Amino acid sequence: MELPFTEPFKIKMVENIYKSTREQREGWIKDANLNLFNLKSQQVFIDLLTDSGTGAMSDKQWSEIMLGDESYAGASSYYKMKEAIKDITGFSYFLPVHQGRAAENVLFSVLVKEGDLVPGNSHFDTTKGHIEFRKANAIDCTINAASETTSYHPFKGNVDLQKLENVLKSNPREKISCVIVTITNNTAGGQPVSMSNLREVSELSRKYGVKFIIDSARFAENAYFIRLREDGFADKDIRDISREMFSYADGMTMSSKKDAIVNMGGFIAFRDEELFRQASTFNIMYEGFITYGGMSGRDMNALAQGLYEGTELLYLESRINQVSFLGNKLKEYGIPLLEPFGGHAIFIDAKKFLPHIPKKEFPAQTLAIELYTEGGLRGVEIGALMADRDPQTRKNRYPDLEMVRLALPRRVYTDNHMNYVAAVVRNVFERRNTIRNGVKIVWEAPIMRHFTIRLERIQ
Ligand code: F0G
Repeated sequence: MELPFTEPFKIKMVENIYKSTREQREGWIKDANLNLFNLKSQQVFIDLLTDSGTGAMSDKQWSEIMLGDESYAGASSYYKMKEAIKDITGFSYFLPVHQGRAAENVLFSVLVKEGDLVPGNSHFDTTKGHIEFRKANAIDCTINAASETTSYHPFKGNVDLQKLENVLKSNPREKISCVIVTITNNTAGGQPVSMSNLREVSELSRKYGVKFIIDSARFAENAYFIRLREDGFADKDIRDISREMFSYADGMTMSSKKDAIVNMGGFIAFRDEELFRQASTFNIMYEGFITYGGMSGRDMNALAQGLYEGTELLYLESRINQVSFLGNKLKEYGIPLLEPFGGHAIFIDAKKFLPHIPKKEFPAQTLAIELYTEGGLRGVEIGALMADRDPQTRKNRYPDLEMVRLALPRRVYTDNHMNYVAAVVRNVFERRNTIRNGVKIVWEAPIMRHFTIRLERIQ
């Protein structure tokens, strides 16, 4: 028989997790104002809130921690990181930053001004936050297929080239900050973007004289999907695919907490020395000197090592297959899901799971709360709460997709944990008709409200 996928690592250290009672959880979630971000991690049994910074580092990464050079300027750790970035992305210039949103802050300080437009494919919430905070507009040009939860498309994260060209054509060049493509497209369900789409976006950007930036948090998972699904890549190395993806862009922002498998860190990389120079000034102001930018030397070392481990084919195979293992199990139980399954998470379609809860009562958040009380499982709402209010009209924005995301930390949970997760979801699904009401907002912040929001159950 064909040998199955399995993890290309074994476990050297374990961390105990606490299994609470339903009664405890009901009290804790109430104290947390029904906001799962407010829970203490000790109150969570299986934590699928995010795959960001939650991965398990390898023995090699931990040994790199001991070798870190903590010099303020010119540390060897900086050069180790520079070499790894050049090797894997092809970019010659880079700035370290403390995480992905810091990369956005620094880069957008150069590129984005009031009244600008930033077209792309469903910008991540911090990306949109940094754009809207500068009184500019993020324009979502994702293909329509992305909002059809069950139709098959191998690259549902793609940019609709016609939508993009309409934005580029109908606005003066000075009003477009840059084009940003997020790989994989997190907000649309961890869906990949094809190589041909990246190439075409690059050509369009060039035609209109606009810079093309890749938000690269999950670039290795994107490369894996290209290898799996796009003609001509089946025999290619993940790093060759990665270099080709980046060859079409002028720069990249990176949250290294995802595909570089570190707990903290990020960077911006550039093709053009001039853009690097301009961004360097902001990096020094916001993050730190250009050879450490908010990271310690040891963390830069672990990041450099993590970039290599995160682009190993066998690792990616086991990772993406664990996500689909969970997806297939849930599908077997009849749970409505976003398909095809994405790279880092399974997305439950809350509109179909709780069709009787109206959108103004936030069905995805309601479901996330139920999953927690049922089994101590923490997911995250990717729906109307996260979509926030329109900055101009202040009206609630209701996105097409109203989902609960179960994001899998890298190298952390076993398939047995996935069986447990699937059972939790199944139990809630079986009693879904007893969930009569959703939730209402009692307090919210003016921007990126979902992190700190306070909610109450509607009686
Ligand atoms: N871009 C994408 C596509 C992301 O998914 C994230 C973070 C960021 C940028 C910002 O990076 O967290 O290092 O500042 N996503 C996490 C998530 C938080 O849960 O999806 P950061």
